[in-house]
Formats: sequence, structure tokens, C-alpha cells
Amino acid sequence: MGRIVTLDENMINMIAAGEVIERPASVVKELMENSIDAGATKITVSIEDGGRKLISVSDNGCGMDAEDLASAFEPHTTSKIKTTKDLRDIATLGFRGEALASVGSVAQVRAVSRTKTESGANCVEIDCGNKAGVSPGSADYGTTIEVRDLFYKLPARRKFLKTANTEMGHIIEHFTRITLASDNLDMTLVHNDRQLYHLPANRGLRQRIAELFSSEISENLIETESNEKGLHIFVLLGRPAISRANNKLQYIFLNGRFIRDKFISHAVKEAYRGSLEPNRYPVVFLFIQMPYENYDVNVHPTKIEVRFANANLIHSQILSCLREKLLATNLDTNAKLPATVAAKPERKDTFGAGYRNQKIADAMTEFFKKHRPIQTQQQIGFHTRTAHSSTVEQIEKERLHAIRYEFTPHFDAGLTAIQIHDSFIVEQTDDGFVIIDQHALHERIIYEELRRRIRKGKLESQKLLIPESFELSTAGADVLQAGGEIIEKLGIELVPFGPKTYAIQAFPTLLAKADSLDFVRDLIDLLTDKDLAVDAERLLDEVLKMAACKAAIKAGQKLTGSEIQQLLTDRETCEHASRCPHGRPTTIKFTTVELEKQFKRI
Ligand SMILES: Nc1ncnc2c1ncn2[C@@H]1O[C@H](COP(=O)(O)OP(=O)(O)OP(=O)(O)O)[C@@H](O)[C@H]1O
Ligand SMILES: [Mg+2]
Repeated sequence: MGRIVTLDENMINMIAAGEVIERPASVVKELMENSIDAGATKITVSIEDGGRKLISVSDNGCGMDAEDLASAFEPHTTSKIKTTKDLRDIATLGFRGEALASVGSVAQVRAVSRTKTESGANCVEIDCGNKAGVSPGSADYGTTIEVRDLFYKLPARRKFLKTANTEMGHIIEHFTRITLASDNLDMTLVHNDRQLYHLPANRGLRQRIAELFSSEISENLIETESNEKGLHIFVLLGRPAISRANNKLQYIFLNGRFIRDKFISHAVKEAYRGSLEPNRYPVVFLFIQMPYENYDVNVHPTKIEVRFANANLIHSQILSCLREKLLATNLDTNAKLPATVAAKPERKDTFGAGYRNQKIADAMTEFFKKHRPIQTQQQIGFHTRTAHSSTVEQIEKERLHAIRYEFTPHFDAGLTAIQIHDSFIVEQTDDGFVIIDQHALHERIIYEELRRRIRKGKLESQKLLIPESFELSTAGADVLQAGGEIIEKLGIELVPFGPKTYAIQAFPTLLAKADSLDFVRDLIDLLTDKDLAVDAERLLDEVLKMAACKAAIKAGQKLTGSEIQQLLTDRETCEHASRCPHGRPTTIKFTTVELEKQFKRI
């Protein structure tokens, strides 16, 4: 008897669904895209339990009549294309006619829909591929699709769903992509009855970016556009001051569709070359409009990749558009001053003074009145000093004194090391000399110290003289909550401060040299990293590496004789002094024998 059988239709659909529906966020994406294609101006997404329990998307679009509702959940049914010619000219987000069939085959689904011309609504229910007939329902015009208990008949797939927080993070990411592409629509996202976002229509892209991310990001974007050879580019470029530790804040849209594309990402990276350190990623919102026939979107079931007819042209046009703008802009104007300088209070009686946002400043003044007197402990250079001051002026005086002290040249007798180019230490050794990269070595020293201390428990922290406030998106706030344990271990104290604002109240003493705000931002980026989330040990290690890098002496920083000496002494106690935590060498050795050879003495 033959072993090969033809799979029944249900099985075929379940298998096909695997390609389109990976997790709750994929359902949200497909349903929102359908609502946009239906011409909706208002879309509401309601989620329960990270989408495991319920995903509901309601719109006020064109709706479906009874006949269309009956076929919408069948495989390969679509109203968006008819002929092969249409396939070359796709103007809608969907066209494959498989999303609803896929969703219906892996969950319990209820769809209610009403067209503008009908007096009543219709309703259809599907339970993992088993569809009941269409029955009358009641609803305003538009469509509501409710998806319950995703993958409940597929335990192997359900098991792979992550915590509600993680799944919600993915949902917010898809919601963000779609809402950025259509700022003419009113969109709402609700989770467990809590409204996470309500984005009214037509308030402008910057306002939407401020709502989705933060006003700091929105205010630090430079706008430019170009229009050549049928390719229209509109872009909001992030200033280097808001650059990130990963490329998650690079959003590329092609005719209203979020895409990922290696060529375009490369063009963005190239455009910033020289404006950003190599390990930093710019924030970019890039919108491309071009004729549909110049690319193929039928490459991948999720339509996140496209194939361009002329990728080189797109690369060069994006590169020159971005580069020209970046070169013509003074990128430093909005840059943040180093923490010690920026923290200088302008009004003696106001703790929040000097903040960019006066509203936050006033709120902070109120809040921190309760927390006086503030005690500060500043680690300056290699000397730890403690300042018990009751007045801001006194602390400020001590800070200025400390800065002067730090930059006073000081030469110890008998020192066998010198600093060159304010970046390298040259030290004489018994059999030659070594050149040390001051940043790389200090990074290693701090990294090992951090590891030692964190193994014993929480890092020692100090209250900030003036707490740093920052805005955070809902997704960011959830990430902070999920990363609570690591944040506590690091000795960072964050206090919520208004609906989307947080303040850093205490910061690890060992990292006093780092900019606390910049550190917390990059920490959130690391905590967001999916790959790291699964490995707590690796995540902590990456955080410590990042911390060490930020707190270490920089290249280009002049050191005093005693600081050089301290660096060399600390090197002796390091377990792996020869490499920085990222694996680069800290020290290069030269022997006298080699020198003698070079000088042809031997
Ligand atoms: N919210 C909606 N309002 C009106 N019609 C809808 C809605 N959602 C789906 N439809 C109709 O149901 C059809 C099937 O939807 P489905 O998402 O399965 O396919 P598609 O959008 O055509 O293609 P794709 O699989 O690429 O998403 C659509 O073509 C559309 O006609
Ligand atoms: Mg669709």
C-alpha cells in the first residue's frame, strides 16, 4: 500500500498558516493591513494577554456583504488582484488572499461586517478551519475581527509563544510600523483594557513619532527629500545625539509598506559615515514612493522583503540625498553637553532647572523638594570624593574645583610611562616597551571590576545631584519593567514621573563617568534585544561591556601622571589585561631586540 496521501484542505491551510502567522503580532499586522486596504480612517486594536487570549481589530472601512464574508476566510480568495498584470502593479498592502484563511485555520475567529449601503451587519465564525454559515449580526458599518486562543489546537506552536510582555512588544512594533506609514488615520491600541496609544489622524509625522517614541527623538530629526527619476524620497534623519546601540529605530517604508532592505540600510550607514562612531546606529524614518512596477513585493509571504528592478539607482539616490543633508547640517547644535556641564543649575532654588522641557522641570522641582537634602558622591578621575552639601552652589563649586583638579598636569617622579596623542600610554618595560590603548585597557579594568562586584550583589550607587528625566514609549516602559532585576542589580533607581516620563534618581558609583541618560537608553536597547532576552547571563555580560565602554577614559582625553600610574597599577590586578571586553588588544609590545634589529645594530 502506498504511504503517500494527499493532505486534506484543513491541514494544507494549517501548514500554510505557519508561513504567515508566526505569533499574535502577525495577526495584528494582517488585520490592520486589511483595514487599511478597506479604506478605513479609524482602526482600533484591542489585545488581551499579549494576544494569546484575544486580538480584536475594528475598522470603519468599506465592510463586506454576506457573500464576501462567506468567501473571505477561504484560501486564495482576494478582492485585490484578478489578473497576472495586477500582480505587477500592486497598490494594496495585501494581495495573496491567504491571511484570513490562515488566521481562521489556527484560532477561533468571529468576524462581523457591514457595508455602508446595507441596513444590517453579517457575522461568520470559524473554529480552526471549521466554518459556520453566515448569520445576521448587529454592528455599525465597517468590520470587526476577533481572534481568540491562537494556536490552541497546535500545542507545539502555542508553546513557542513568549510571555505576554514579549508578545506585546512584538505587537507594539508592528502597530508602530503601520501607524508610521499612515499618519492620516486615527489608530488606537489597547492592552488588557489599558489604552497604550491613541494616535489621532493628521497631526503630522513628527507628532506621531513623539507619541510612539519620545519628543526628544522627534525634536532631533532633520528633514529632507529628493525627487528624481520617478523616485521620491522623504526622510527624517536622527541627529548623532540620539543614535542607538542597534538598528531598531531605522524604519523604511516603500509606498506605505514597511520593508527591510540590505541595500537601503547600507546606503543609510554609508551616509552617516564620519558623523557617527562605527558601532552606533542612526535613527532614521525613510519614506520612498516609486511606481509599483519598479519592484516586486511577491517575494516573501510576510511581504517584508521586496526585489527592486534597479537596486543600484535606489542605493545611490538615497545615499546622496542623505549625505548631502548631513553634510549641510551642523550636527552638533542640539547635541547634549557632557553630564557634568549640562547639570549646572540655572536657578539656585530649582532642582529641575536646566531641563529642556520646562513642564518636566517644574514637576521635578515639586517632586524633589521632598527629597532634600541631596547627598552626592562624585568619582572624579581615579579619586573618589564625597560631598555633603546642603546648597547647590556649594556642590557646584566643588564640582568646578574637581574638574580643574582633574585637568591639572601632574608628573610623578620616576614615572616610566608617557601619554601620546592623548590616547596611548607608552611604558618602558624590562626588555623593551609597550603601547597601551588607554580606552581599551580602562574598559577591561572597569569590566572586570563590575563583574566582581555584581557577583557579590547589587552595585553601589549614588543619588544624582539633579535627577535626569527622560520620556519613554509604552513599549520601552514595558521593557524597563521586564528588565527590573538587571536594573536593580546595576544600582540604577528609576522613578515614574508622569505618564511617559521617568527620572533616573540613582546611578552606579562605578559608572559615574558615564552619561546616565545615554546609558539608560542603551540599556533599554539591549533589554529589547530578542536574542539576548533568552540568555540572562549573556544579557548581563553585554550590559556590563556596554557599561565599561561608557565609563572608561576616552581616546583623546588627557591624563595626569597619577592617572596614568593608576591605570598601570590596575592593569596588574586584571585577569585578562591584554584584551578589552570586546576582544580587541589593549597592549602592543615591542622588544629592544626588535628595535636593535630595525636600527641594524644586530
Ligand atoms: N477589514 C476588512 N474590511 C473589508 N474587507 C476585508 C477586510 N478584511 C478582509 N477583507 C476582504 O477579505 C479578503 C481576504 O482577506 P485576506 O487578508 O485573506 O487577503 P488579502 O488581503 O486579499 O491578501 P493577503 O493574504 O496578502 O493579506 C480581502 O481581499 C478583502 O476583500
Ligand atoms: Mg490581507
